[in-house]
Amino acid sequence: MNSKPAVLVTRKLPAAVEARLSKDYQPILNPDDKLYTADELVSLSAKVDAILPCHTEKLTADVIGRLDDRVRIIANFSVGVDHCDLIAAKEKGIAVTNTPDVLSDATAETAILLMLGAARRASEGDRMVRTRQWRDWSPSFMVGQQVTGKRFGVIGMGRVGQVTANRARCFGMDIHYYNRNRLDGKLEAGATYYETIEALLPNCDVLSIHCPATPDTIGLLNAERIALLPAGAIVVNTARGGVIDDDALIGALKSGHLWAAGLDVFNGEPLDIHPAYRELENVFLLPHIGSATFDTRDAMGFRALDNMDAFFAGREPGDRVA
Ligand code: DGY
Repeated sequence: MNSKPAVLVTRKLPAAVEARLSKDYQPILNPDDKLYTADELVSLSAKVDAILPCHTEKLTADVIGRLDDRVRIIANFSVGVDHCDLIAAKEKGIAVTNTPDVLSDATAETAILLMLGAARRASEGDRMVRTRQWRDWSPSFMVGQQVTGKRFGVIGMGRVGQVTANRARCFGMDIHYYNRNRLDGKLEAGATYYETIEALLPNCDVLSIHCPATPDTIGLLNAERIALLPAGAIVVNTARGGVIDDDALIGALKSGHLWAAGLDVFNGEPLDIHPAYRELENVFLLPHIGSATFDTRDAMGFRALDNMDAFFAGREPGDRVA
Protein backbone atom coordinates (compact mmCIF):
# COMPACT_ATOMS: atom_id res chain seq x y z
CA MET A 1 0.00 0.00 0.00
CA ASN A 2 1.24 3.50 -0.85
CA SER A 3 1.65 5.42 2.43
CA LYS A 4 2.00 8.85 0.83
CA PRO A 5 -0.85 11.15 1.88
CA ALA A 6 -3.44 11.88 -0.83
CA VAL A 7 -3.98 15.57 -1.66
CA LEU A 8 -6.78 17.27 -3.57
CA VAL A 9 -5.16 20.12 -5.53
CA THR A 10 -8.08 22.30 -6.52
CA ARG A 11 -6.41 24.39 -9.28
CA LYS A 12 -3.60 23.97 -11.79
CA LEU A 13 -0.32 24.81 -10.04
CA PRO A 14 3.13 25.69 -11.46
CA ALA A 15 4.91 22.70 -13.01
CA ALA A 16 7.70 22.66 -10.41
CA VAL A 17 5.15 22.62 -7.59
CA GLU A 18 3.14 19.81 -9.17
CA ALA A 19 6.38 17.85 -9.70
CA ARG A 20 7.25 18.09 -6.00
CA LEU A 21 3.67 17.21 -5.08
CA SER A 22 3.78 14.11 -7.25
CA LYS A 23 7.08 13.01 -5.69
CA ASP A 24 5.97 13.32 -2.07
CA TYR A 25 2.19 12.84 -2.20
CA GLN A 26 -0.59 11.15 -4.14
CA PRO A 27 -2.13 14.26 -5.67
CA ILE A 28 -5.43 14.58 -7.47
CA LEU A 29 -4.41 17.31 -9.90
CA ASN A 30 -6.66 19.58 -11.95
CA PRO A 31 -4.91 19.89 -15.35
CA ASP A 32 -7.91 21.66 -16.90
CA ASP A 33 -7.98 24.21 -14.05
CA LYS A 34 -11.73 23.72 -13.69
CA LEU A 35 -13.43 25.50 -10.80
CA TYR A 36 -14.98 22.81 -8.60
CA THR A 37 -18.45 23.24 -7.17
CA ALA A 38 -18.91 22.85 -3.43
CA ASP A 39 -20.54 19.46 -4.01
CA GLU A 40 -17.59 18.30 -6.12
CA LEU A 41 -15.15 19.38 -3.41
CA VAL A 42 -17.15 17.53 -0.79
CA SER A 43 -17.34 14.40 -2.92
CA LEU A 44 -13.61 14.44 -3.78
CA SER A 45 -12.71 14.99 -0.12
CA ALA A 46 -13.53 11.35 0.61
CA LYS A 47 -10.42 10.37 -1.37
CA VAL A 48 -7.86 12.62 0.34
CA ASP A 49 -6.00 13.40 3.55
CA ALA A 50 -5.35 17.03 2.58
CA ILE A 51 -6.78 19.77 0.39
CA LEU A 52 -4.58 22.39 -1.27
CA PRO A 53 -7.06 25.10 -2.32
CA CYS A 54 -6.87 28.69 -3.54
CA HIS A 55 -9.02 31.68 -2.59
CA THR A 56 -11.34 30.63 -5.45
CA GLU A 57 -12.68 27.74 -3.35
CA LYS A 58 -15.28 29.03 -0.93
CA LEU A 59 -14.72 26.81 2.09
CA THR A 60 -17.69 28.00 4.11
CA ALA A 61 -18.74 26.48 7.42
CA ASP A 62 -21.29 24.41 5.50
CA VAL A 63 -18.70 23.04 3.03
CA ILE A 64 -16.16 22.35 5.76
CA GLY A 65 -18.83 20.62 7.82
CA ARG A 66 -19.55 18.33 4.86
CA LEU A 67 -15.91 17.46 4.10
CA ASP A 68 -15.01 13.85 4.68
CA ASP A 69 -13.51 13.12 8.11
CA ARG A 70 -10.45 11.80 6.30
CA VAL A 71 -9.32 15.40 5.53
CA ARG A 72 -6.80 16.54 8.17
CA ILE A 73 -5.29 19.71 6.69
CA ILE A 74 -6.26 22.53 4.34
CA ALA A 75 -2.96 23.93 3.06
CA ASN A 76 -4.00 27.12 1.29
CA PHE A 77 -2.19 28.45 -1.76
CA SER A 78 -2.84 32.03 -0.57
CA VAL A 79 -1.98 34.41 2.20
CA GLY A 80 -5.60 35.53 2.53
CA VAL A 81 -7.83 33.02 4.28
CA ASP A 82 -11.15 34.85 4.15
CA HIS A 83 -12.46 32.16 1.77
CA CYS A 84 -12.02 29.59 4.49
CA ASP A 85 -14.10 29.39 7.70
CA LEU A 86 -11.35 28.98 10.28
CA ILE A 87 -13.73 28.41 13.18
CA ALA A 88 -15.51 25.58 11.35
CA ALA A 89 -12.16 24.01 10.42
CA LYS A 90 -10.95 24.19 13.99
CA GLU A 91 -14.15 22.67 15.30
CA LYS A 92 -13.80 19.81 12.85
CA GLY A 93 -10.15 19.30 13.84
CA ILE A 94 -8.78 20.30 10.43
CA ALA A 95 -5.50 22.25 10.45
CA VAL A 96 -5.37 25.29 8.15
CA THR A 97 -2.25 27.01 6.79
CA ASN A 98 -1.55 29.94 4.46
CA THR A 99 1.44 31.31 2.49
CA PRO A 100 2.63 34.61 4.00
CA ASP A 101 5.87 36.48 3.16
CA VAL A 102 6.51 34.94 -0.25
CA LEU A 103 4.06 37.16 -2.08
CA SER A 104 4.90 40.45 -0.40
CA ASP A 105 7.24 41.69 -3.16
CA ALA A 106 4.90 40.79 -6.02
CA THR A 107 1.90 42.35 -4.29
CA ALA A 108 3.84 45.49 -3.42
CA GLU A 109 4.85 45.82 -7.07
CA THR A 110 1.19 45.57 -8.02
CA ALA A 111 0.22 48.23 -5.48
CA ILE A 112 2.81 50.59 -6.97
CA LEU A 113 1.60 49.76 -10.48
CA LEU A 114 -1.96 50.60 -9.40
CA MET A 115 -0.84 53.84 -7.77
CA LEU A 116 1.02 54.99 -10.86
CA GLY A 117 -1.66 53.75 -13.26
CA ALA A 118 -4.32 55.63 -11.33
CA ALA A 119 -2.22 58.78 -10.86
CA ARG A 120 -1.18 59.02 -14.51
CA ARG A 121 -4.47 57.94 -16.15
CA ALA A 122 -2.95 54.79 -17.61
CA SER A 123 -6.23 53.03 -18.51
CA GLU A 124 -7.54 56.13 -20.23
CA GLY A 125 -4.32 56.59 -22.19
CA ASP A 126 -4.13 52.92 -23.16
CA ARG A 127 -7.73 52.96 -24.42
CA MET A 128 -7.07 56.16 -26.33
CA VAL A 129 -4.13 54.68 -28.21
CA ARG A 130 -5.89 51.38 -28.98
CA THR A 131 -9.08 53.04 -30.23
CA ARG A 132 -7.28 55.63 -32.39
CA GLN A 133 -8.66 58.46 -30.25
CA TRP A 134 -5.11 59.78 -29.71
CA ARG A 135 -4.95 62.59 -32.23
CA ASP A 136 -2.91 65.40 -30.73
CA TRP A 137 -0.43 66.47 -28.08
CA SER A 138 -0.53 69.66 -26.08
CA PRO A 139 0.68 70.84 -22.66
CA SER A 140 -2.82 70.25 -21.30
CA PHE A 141 -3.18 66.77 -22.80
CA MET A 142 -3.65 63.81 -20.40
CA VAL A 143 -2.17 65.62 -17.42
CA GLY A 144 -2.15 63.53 -14.24
CA GLN A 145 -0.93 63.55 -10.66
CA GLN A 146 2.74 63.21 -9.75
CA VAL A 147 3.34 61.06 -6.67
CA THR A 148 6.96 62.06 -6.03
CA GLY A 149 7.28 63.70 -2.63
CA LYS A 150 3.63 63.15 -1.71
CA ARG A 151 2.20 61.35 1.32
CA PHE A 152 1.71 57.57 1.05
CA GLY A 153 -0.80 56.21 3.57
CA VAL A 154 -1.04 52.56 4.53
CA ILE A 155 -3.84 50.77 6.35
CA GLY A 156 -2.40 47.47 7.58
CA MET A 157 1.37 47.69 8.04
CA GLY A 158 2.00 43.93 7.92
CA ARG A 159 4.45 42.26 5.57
CA VAL A 160 2.91 43.52 2.32
CA GLY A 161 2.23 46.99 3.73
CA GLN A 162 5.85 47.33 4.84
CA VAL A 163 7.32 46.27 1.49
CA THR A 164 4.92 48.56 -0.37
CA ALA A 165 5.88 51.47 1.89
CA ASN A 166 9.54 50.78 1.12
CA ARG A 167 8.85 50.87 -2.61
CA ALA A 168 6.91 54.15 -2.16
CA ARG A 169 9.93 55.61 -0.33
CA CYS A 170 11.84 55.22 -3.62
CA PHE A 171 9.49 57.89 -5.02
CA GLY A 172 10.44 60.21 -2.18
CA MET A 173 7.05 59.60 -0.60
CA ASP A 174 6.51 60.29 3.07
CA ILE A 175 4.99 57.23 4.80
CA HIS A 176 1.98 57.47 7.13
CA TYR A 177 0.24 54.40 8.53
CA TYR A 178 -2.42 52.86 10.71
CA ASN A 179 -1.91 49.41 12.14
CA ARG A 180 -3.44 47.64 15.13
CA ASN A 181 0.01 47.78 16.72
CA ARG A 182 2.69 50.37 16.19
CA LEU A 183 5.82 48.97 14.51
CA ASP A 184 9.13 49.13 16.32
CA GLY A 185 11.41 51.98 15.35
CA LYS A 186 13.56 50.00 12.90
CA LEU A 187 10.59 48.69 10.95
CA GLU A 188 8.82 52.02 11.18
CA ALA A 189 11.81 53.65 9.51
CA GLY A 190 10.60 57.22 10.02
CA ALA A 191 6.96 56.55 9.05
CA THR A 192 4.29 58.44 11.00
CA TYR A 193 1.96 56.24 13.03
CA TYR A 194 -1.71 57.04 13.74
CA GLU A 195 -3.75 55.31 16.41
CA THR A 196 -6.94 55.47 14.37
CA ILE A 197 -7.84 55.24 10.70
CA GLU A 198 -9.68 58.56 11.07
CA ALA A 199 -6.47 60.26 12.16
CA LEU A 200 -4.50 58.76 9.28
CA LEU A 201 -6.82 59.59 6.39
CA PRO A 202 -6.42 63.40 6.20
CA ASN A 203 -2.67 62.76 5.76
CA CYS A 204 -2.85 60.52 2.67
CA ASP A 205 -2.38 61.75 -0.89
CA VAL A 206 -2.35 58.06 -1.77
CA LEU A 207 -4.05 55.49 0.45
CA SER A 208 -3.01 51.86 -0.02
CA ILE A 209 -5.00 49.15 1.78
CA HIS A 210 -3.17 46.08 3.05
CA CYS A 211 -5.31 44.63 5.83
CA PRO A 212 -6.96 41.21 5.61
CA ALA A 213 -10.71 40.89 5.08
CA THR A 214 -12.22 39.97 8.44
CA PRO A 215 -15.60 40.77 10.01
CA ASP A 216 -13.88 43.84 11.52
CA THR A 217 -12.54 45.21 8.22
CA ILE A 218 -15.45 44.55 5.83
CA GLY A 219 -16.61 47.92 4.47
CA LEU A 220 -13.79 49.68 6.33
CA LEU A 221 -13.35 52.34 3.65
CA ASN A 222 -16.86 53.81 3.78
CA ALA A 223 -18.32 57.19 2.82
CA GLU A 224 -17.48 58.85 6.15
CA ARG A 225 -13.85 57.77 5.96
CA ILE A 226 -13.46 58.62 2.26
CA ALA A 227 -14.67 62.14 3.11
CA LEU A 228 -11.67 62.44 5.46
CA LEU A 229 -9.19 61.91 2.61
CA PRO A 230 -7.80 65.12 1.10
CA ALA A 231 -9.50 66.27 -2.11
CA GLY A 232 -7.70 64.69 -5.06
CA ALA A 233 -6.46 61.63 -3.16
CA ILE A 234 -5.89 58.24 -4.80
CA VAL A 235 -7.10 54.93 -3.34
CA VAL A 236 -5.25 51.66 -4.03
CA ASN A 237 -6.51 48.22 -3.03
CA THR A 238 -4.57 44.97 -3.36
CA ALA A 239 -6.05 43.38 -0.22
CA ARG A 240 -9.64 42.20 -0.69
CA GLY A 241 -12.64 43.89 -2.33
CA GLY A 242 -14.68 43.51 0.83
CA VAL A 243 -12.73 46.19 2.68
CA ILE A 244 -14.21 48.88 0.40
CA ASP A 245 -17.78 50.14 0.27
CA ASP A 246 -18.12 50.28 -3.53
CA ASP A 247 -21.00 52.75 -3.64
CA ALA A 248 -19.04 55.16 -1.44
CA LEU A 249 -15.85 54.85 -3.49
CA ILE A 250 -17.70 55.23 -6.79
CA GLY A 251 -19.57 58.27 -5.45
CA ALA A 252 -16.28 59.95 -4.52
CA LEU A 253 -14.70 59.06 -7.89
CA LYS A 254 -17.69 60.52 -9.72
CA SER A 255 -17.87 63.69 -7.63
CA GLY A 256 -14.16 64.35 -8.12
CA HIS A 257 -13.40 64.24 -4.39
CA LEU A 258 -11.00 61.42 -5.27
CA TRP A 259 -8.67 61.79 -8.23
CA ALA A 260 -8.65 58.08 -9.06
CA ALA A 261 -8.51 54.53 -7.72
CA GLY A 262 -6.31 51.57 -8.59
CA LEU A 263 -7.99 48.27 -7.80
CA ASP A 264 -6.82 44.66 -8.09
CA VAL A 265 -9.55 43.10 -5.93
CA PHE A 266 -13.32 43.54 -5.93
CA ASN A 267 -16.50 42.64 -4.19
CA GLY A 268 -18.21 40.05 -6.39
CA GLU A 269 -15.10 39.27 -8.44
CA PRO A 270 -14.65 38.12 -11.08
CA LEU A 271 -18.00 38.53 -12.82
CA ASP A 272 -20.25 40.45 -10.46
CA ILE A 273 -18.15 43.50 -9.70
CA HIS A 274 -19.94 46.84 -9.36
CA PRO A 275 -20.85 47.81 -12.97
CA ALA A 276 -19.74 51.43 -12.47
CA TYR A 277 -16.11 50.33 -12.28
CA ARG A 278 -16.32 49.22 -15.91
CA GLU A 279 -17.58 52.67 -16.96
CA LEU A 280 -15.47 55.11 -14.94
CA GLU A 281 -12.44 56.70 -16.64
CA ASN A 282 -10.59 57.41 -13.40
CA VAL A 283 -10.05 53.81 -12.29
CA PHE A 284 -7.11 51.58 -13.15
CA LEU A 285 -8.28 47.98 -12.85
CA LEU A 286 -6.48 44.65 -12.66
CA PRO A 287 -7.99 41.14 -12.33
CA HIS A 288 -6.67 40.03 -8.90
CA ILE A 289 -3.09 39.45 -10.08
CA GLY A 290 -1.22 40.87 -7.08
CA SER A 291 0.82 37.69 -6.60
CA ALA A 292 0.83 36.59 -10.24
CA THR A 293 4.52 36.35 -11.06
CA PHE A 294 6.31 33.11 -11.96
CA ASP A 295 8.68 33.45 -9.00
CA THR A 296 5.95 34.11 -6.50
CA ARG A 297 3.55 31.43 -7.71
CA ASP A 298 6.34 28.84 -7.36
CA ALA A 299 7.17 30.16 -3.91
CA MET A 300 3.53 30.06 -2.80
CA GLY A 301 3.24 26.44 -3.91
CA PHE A 302 6.46 25.43 -2.17
CA ARG A 303 5.35 27.21 1.00
CA ALA A 304 2.03 25.32 0.97
CA LEU A 305 4.00 22.08 0.52
CA ASP A 306 6.39 22.98 3.34
CA ASN A 307 3.34 23.35 5.58
CA MET A 308 1.94 19.99 4.50
CA ASP A 309 5.34 18.30 4.85
CA ALA A 310 5.63 19.53 8.44
CA PHE A 311 2.09 18.49 9.26
CA PHE A 312 2.42 14.95 7.93
CA ALA A 313 5.84 14.59 9.61
CA GLY A 314 4.12 15.34 12.94
CA ARG A 315 5.57 18.84 13.28
CA GLU A 316 3.72 22.13 13.68
CA PRO A 317 3.37 23.77 10.23
CA GLY A 318 5.11 27.14 10.10
CA ASP A 319 2.08 29.01 8.80
CA ARG A 320 -0.75 27.47 10.77
CA VAL A 321 -3.74 29.83 11.06
CA ALA A 322 -6.21 27.30 12.55
C1 DGY B 1 -3.63 35.70 -1.67
O1 DGY B 1 -2.64 34.97 -1.55
O2 DGY B 1 -4.40 35.95 -0.74
C2 DGY B 1 -3.88 36.28 -3.03
O3 DGY B 1 -4.92 37.20 -3.00
C3 DGY B 1 -4.20 35.18 -4.01
O4 DGY B 1 -5.19 34.39 -3.49
